[in-house]
Amino acid sequence: MILNVKNLSMKFDNKVVFKDLNFDLKKGSMTALLGPNGTGKTTLINILMKLMPPTSGSFKFSDNVKLGYVPQFRNIDAEYPLSIKAFVGLNAPLIKTSKVKQHIDHELEETNLLEIQNTRMGEASGGQKQRAYLAQALLDEPNMIILDEATASLDPVAKEELMKLIKHLNREHGMTVLFVTHDVPLAKKYMDEYLYLNHQTIEQGKMSDFKGDYE
Ligand SMILES: Nc1ncnc2c1ncn2[C@@H]1O[C@H](COP(=O)(O)OP(=O)(O)O)[C@@H](O)[C@H]1O
Ligand SMILES: [Mg+2]
Repeated sequence: MILNVKNLSMKFDNKVVFKDLNFDLKKGSMTALLGPNGTGKTTLINILMKLMPPTSGSFKFSDNVKLGYVPQFRNIDAEYPLSIKAFVGLNAPLIKTSKVKQHIDHELEETNLLEIQNTRMGEASGGQKQRAYLAQALLDEPNMIILDEATASLDPVAKEELMKLIKHLNREHGMTVLFVTHDVPLAKKYMDEYLYLNHQTIEQGKMSDFKGDYE
C-alpha cells in the first residue's frame, strides 16, 4: 500500500465538494482518477499534495514515498524565453555541477527531449511542453507521480506518446501513477484501476470494468 485515504471530506464555504472518501492505492499501480468537470478531482489532488488541508478526514502515504507532480495544463506564453533544457533545470539545484547536468540530460533523454533541448519552451508543441513538465518532476526521483489532466489539450499522437512514457516509468521503474483524466478510452488503454469521483463520492475498480459514460 502506498496511499490510504480515510473519510476524507472537503467543503468550500458551504459547498460540499466530496465527503467521506475512502480508498487505497497499491504500490506500483496505475490508476485513472475519472469524473465529470467540477467534481473535485483537482481539489483531491491538491489535498494529497498538501497544497490545502481537507475539511475533515485523513490520508497517509507510505513512509518511503517520494511524490512527483505534473499540474493541470496551462499554456506557456509564446514569448517565454527559456529553452526546454533551462526550463527542466529550474527544478535542479542552482549550481549546475557536472553531476546535476548529467541528471538533467538523463531526464531529457528519458522524456525524449534531448534532441530538442534548445527549443524555446514558448515554441514547443503541447506534447513537448508536457514532457518538459514531466522531466522537471522526474528530477526529484519520485516513486509516485500524480498527473492532473496532462493530456487534456494534446493531439492524439502527443497523447499516446506521453502515455507510453508513463507506462514505461511504471514498468521499468516501478512508478506508482495517479492520472487525472476525462478520456475514458485513453485510460482503458493505459491504466489498470480507476477511481470515479462523482456526486460527492468515489468508486474504485478495475479499469476494464469501468462502465461510466459521462462528459
Ligand atoms: N479554491 C477554491 N475556492 C472555492 N471553490 C473552489 C476552489 N477550488 C475549487 N472549487 C470548486 O470546487 C469544485 C471542484 O473543483 P475542481 O476540484 O477543480 O474539479 P475538477 O478538477 O474535477 O474539474 C468546483 O465546484 C469548483 O468551483
Ligand atoms: Mg481539475
